[in-house]
Amino acid sequence: MRNQIPTVPESQVTDEAVYLSRRQMLTAAAVSTAACLSSGAAQLVEPSPEVNDPAPGWMHSLNNGATHSALSTNETLTPYEYVTGYNNFYEFGTSKDDPASNSGQFQPFPWEIEIAGLAEKTGRFELEDVLKDLAVEERIYRLRCVEAWSMVIPWLGVSLGAVLKRFKPLSSARYVAFETVYRPEQMPGQRSFFAAIDYPYLEGLRMDEAMHPLTLLATGVYGRSLPNQNGAPTRLVVPWKYGFKSIKSIRKITFLKTQPPTTWQQANAREYGFYANVNPAVDHPRWRQSEERRLPGSVFNANRIPTLAFNGYGEQVAGLYAGMDLTKDY
Ligand code: MTE
Repeated sequence: MRNQIPTVPESQVTDEAVYLSRRQMLTAAAVSTAACLSSGAAQLVEPSPEVNDPAPGWMHSLNNGATHSALSTNETLTPYEYVTGYNNFYEFGTSKDDPASNSGQFQPFPWEIEIAGLAEKTGRFELEDVLKDLAVEERIYRLRCVEAWSMVIPWLGVSLGAVLKRFKPLSSARYVAFETVYRPEQMPGQRSFFAAIDYPYLEGLRMDEAMHPLTLLATGVYGRSLPNQNGAPTRLVVPWKYGFKSIKSIRKITFLKTQPPTTWQQANAREYGFYANVNPAVDHPRWRQSEERRLPGSVFNANRIPTLAFNGYGEQVAGLYAGMDLTKDY
């Protein structure tokens, strides 16, 4: 598979209009919901009453204790229907509506996370214990996909740094690797003979990136537990990096001395780097990165806006890359 040089198909980059007309999701209702929810005041986003949330009680209790985070943007939220209906999760298929359509069989509970590598505490842990007593916050972040679309998403989650510290990483640990669960029986994309990428999906961060206060381990979205298509039961959210760094349905975390391999870099290193910081000055070889389509757009108005360095989080994170040439370490 690896020498197939897979890429994000051009159709994935330009298919929003098709997607819109197919799903007809840009309803008046969705637009008015977004308007009501716009500008994240200090109030938490109200979960929609008709959304079914089958997570266990401990996950509800955790998320119900969420407080609003000052790290939130007050930009208009992307409607729930888009956040949970227009997804990238190749394990369930490569079309934007595949993850919502094909993830119904996926079982995110019970869930264990394996901790491995350079840490004092390693082994297999129940997710409930990994998250116990940590402060859940609602963080409204911009998400910028490498495909040049973006959303504003109200996540619930805990600081990844707080989670990692529980396992007492050794000072020799300079990187953290993440792995998505491998369950071909529940994830049709992993069974596909023509899979675009190798599985399990792999990602990684430098230790200082992982410990940064903006880096979130998400436990919910829009006031509820994560739906399967968004990475249940827990996924990464790294808001200053292209969305592919925000790995979903994490089953293993490994502390390492050296930079780990990552799925998209292995698939096509010329197009996707390890750092993947949002950078309007470095184009993707096949499209420009200086602008993005803020969803929802419409067939008549793509809602293009300029892309900001580090997705607008430069003040907080640019220092992590001092002295590096980000045209080489893209
Ligand atoms: N994680 C896994 N395991 N598999 C994937 O295909 N896609 C990534 C990322 N995490 C992906 C993944 C990409 S390309 C993006 S843009 C974001 O998830 C999308 O997150 P969302 O669907 O919740 O908006």
